Amino acid sequence: MLTIFTLLGITVDAVLCGGFFPDLSNLTPNINVKPTLPALPNLNIFTRDCSKDYKDEFRRNLYVFSTNLYKRVAGVKENHFVLSQYSVWRELSAFAENTEGEAQKELLEVLHLPEESCVREKYYNAAKNLERNGEDVTLARKRVFASTRNQDSSWIDFAKRYELFDFAFIQGKNTEDALREVTKAVDASWLKAEHVKDKKGLLVDKMDFTGQWYYGFNESETKEEPFYDDSGKEIGRVNMMKINTKVKIAYLPVLNSKIIELPIGNDKRYRLVLLVPIGRTTVSDVIRLLPHTIIIDIFDNLMESAIALPVAIPRFEIKTEIDELRDLLKGLGIDKVWDDKSIDGVYQRSTLRLVEAGPRAVPAASPLPGLGIGQALRTGLAAAVGADFVANRPFMFGLVDEDTRTCLLTGAYSKPSLI
Ligand SMILES: *[C@@H]1O[C@H](CO)[C@@H](O)[C@H](O)[C@H]1NC(C)=O
Repeated sequence: MLTIFTLLGITVDAVLCGGFFPDLSNLTPNINVKPTLPALPNLNIFTRDCSKDYKDEFRRNLYVFSTNLYKRVAGVKENHFVLSQYSVWRELSAFAENTEGEAQKELLEVLHLPEESCVREKYYNAAKNLERNGEDVTLARKRVFASTRNQDSSWIDFAKRYELFDFAFIQGKNTEDALREVTKAVDASWLKAEHVKDKKGLLVDKMDFTGQWYYGFNESETKEEPFYDDSGKEIGRVNMMKINTKVKIAYLPVLNSKIIELPIGNDKRYRLVLLVPIGRTTVSDVIRLLPHTIIIDIFDNLMESAIALPVAIPRFEIKTEIDELRDLLKGLGIDKVWDDKSIDGVYQRSTLRLVEAGPRAVPAASPLPGLGIGQALRTGLAAAVGADFVANRPFMFGLVDEDTRTCLLTGAYSKPSLI
């Protein structure tokens, strides 16, 4: 039986997110411990109304899964990576629809999917159509289930209808032929023979994101500058992009971090949220403490700063290939599905590239008055935190869909390079 945690979680989260600051009472203190669901009374006797809107619940449950997977991936990728939990969630949820018993129970629990299939379909609908390409944003995504076995066609149709994955039937052949076919289906040139050898079914997905800012950075303002580690030691150089703009910015006392959001796309349909720790707090500290409440909800309670603030972030491109997903998912509690032998590998490659480009310049702002407490008050920031946002030390980021506030990509940056 699935516990009711996901159901109650909504109410609890909603209350906790009513204030500015995330609650830290339900942290997972040790990331190596398999997360256990809190013991709550089983309220499954209540059936749920399938005509209701479940978008918000979907978003919150996806967030919990995303946070758990983020912690695992950060560990193996040394805090420098980009990851699309959203995609992993979608492809695995298809397997929740094609398994039963223990295997299904594990998937429902770890993915935070509801027990009622009609509510799950509401989630799948909410997850659709969040990635819209245009001249301003390129979002190239391929997500394929490549199988050497023929699969039930009504299940494949279901997966296609909700865009959970595309199906590629790889006819029983040698490793080399199979690799060629999988690579073609996913456009996944990074896969090697060892990824495919003796495998029955592979989930492979690929996401390349590059977008233009709503307000472009001025290229002639970009300067090569040092980048530091968490202890303040210079560890490399970056091309620092600069802009002076009114932004949503906040200080999170519980994480001792500054957080900012910058709109992306002509219609601001995406935003990049960046989080930089302050003082002795490290990115690892923040990741360890990362609450299951939605940090971006904070912004619903925040106004833009009243005046333009200097913002500096490195030009960056991160490309991450994750081969260990199956093991990381095992660590989260998905174990049985690999036994049934229709699927035995999960691979992902994500790329995020952000440079200065943007179609419009920031409108001329009134000149910055001298720094001081008065200004700090007007920006809404604690005076000690200053009145700017400079990402010249390891930071975390998330790419969020504006409509549904779903995280499409998340990651961390801690290995500087000049691009
Ligand atoms: C970009 O910066 C340069 C140098 O500071 C400046 O001369 C130029 O006017 C700026 N361009 C725009 C569009 O603001």
